[in-house]
Amino acid sequence: MSKLFSSDEIQVAAQAIKAGELVSFPTETVYGLGADATNPEAVKKVYAAKGRPSDNPLIVHVADQTEVAKFANIDDKSKKLMDQFWPGPLTIILPIKKGALNSIVTGGLDTAAFRNPATQVTIDLIRAAGVPLVGPSANTSGKPSPTKPEHVLHDLDGKIAGVLDDGETTIGVESTVLDMSSTTPSILRPGAITEQALAPLIGEVQTDHHKVGKDEVPKAPGMKYKHYAPNAQVYIVSDQDWDGVVAWLQKHTDQTIGIMATNEIFETKKLGEFDQVRYISLGVDSKTASRELFDGLRTFDADSAIKTIFAQGFDRIGIGEAYMNRLQKSAGNTYFSDID
Ligand code: TXA
Ligand code: MG
Repeated sequence: MSKLFSSDEIQVAAQAIKAGELVSFPTETVYGLGADATNPEAVKKVYAAKGRPSDNPLIVHVADQTEVAKFANIDDKSKKLMDQFWPGPLTIILPIKKGALNSIVTGGLDTAAFRNPATQVTIDLIRAAGVPLVGPSANTSGKPSPTKPEHVLHDLDGKIAGVLDDGETTIGVESTVLDMSSTTPSILRPGAITEQALAPLIGEVQTDHHKVGKDEVPKAPGMKYKHYAPNAQVYIVSDQDWDGVVAWLQKHTDQTIGIMATNEIFETKKLGEFDQVRYISLGVDSKTASRELFDGLRTFDADSAIKTIFAQGFDRIGIGEAYMNRLQKSAGNTYFSDID
């Protein structure tokens, strides 16, 4: 059985890290699966516990920006980004110094991803362990990322020493991944820190919309794998399609349907009148929806009667971009308008 470490037990958790064991740590985005980034045997356990392909490199989590200089050369723009956005939900990819990190961390690339998470208990954990922590999201590969300690235990109980408990995460979708090793900085994964927030500081920023084909080498290797997928089929519902959903529900009374939508949609479309609907609130906007998305998908997963989920789409503004990126992956990019 894995333990739940309270904030008083950071030293115990740090001992486990130093001993080469795995400890899940909280961040402002999602829970990470932590191991000593300087211990290749410990890092191997991370891939094994998640069932993650080992060509998918890991983020190196540091307590502050000075720690990055040991591993990578920090250019002026990246320094500006760290000053402005760290600690916070921005992962920065930098060229690394030769031999500074084991290839098991970098997936054999000559770059590595660095992040300074904003949760104090995790900064304390990294300092107490005295080493940076690799940390993919602490879920079984392919499943929704964990936003609560119980999600981590659901997927990894018995495979890790424990989870450092800091309650529910605040942002709910993973950090922005920004490649600073390319000529023009490029967003490989959208997150809470948007292109609009980055550009005033560092000039032109590209967003990598490149769809990854089977035989291509993707820029962020993680993007080629199936992601965030619950057992049920998810359909994205665009604003104009809710009346269609209501008509569909009136016809299909024999199936249990999971619906994730704002309170406003729930009320104006009178979704409470359908007995077959299991409803999870996404709150009021794309920010609250981002916080609820993965938890909602996991809650529906626990109900085997739900084979179909309708989830509200949002405009790709602000964190709406990151929300839609994750939702499209869990839905296999299928929309309600594709039904029939
Ligand atoms: O919010 C987050 O970033 C969370 C928390 C725990 O910090 N971590 C997280 O890690 O989402 P993970 O491993 O699930 O996602 C890291 C992404 C993957 O898509 C990976 O392929 C990409 O970053 N990545 C890591 N190193 C890279 C590199 N050197 N070049 C390109 N992409 C890289
Ligand atoms: Mg992940």
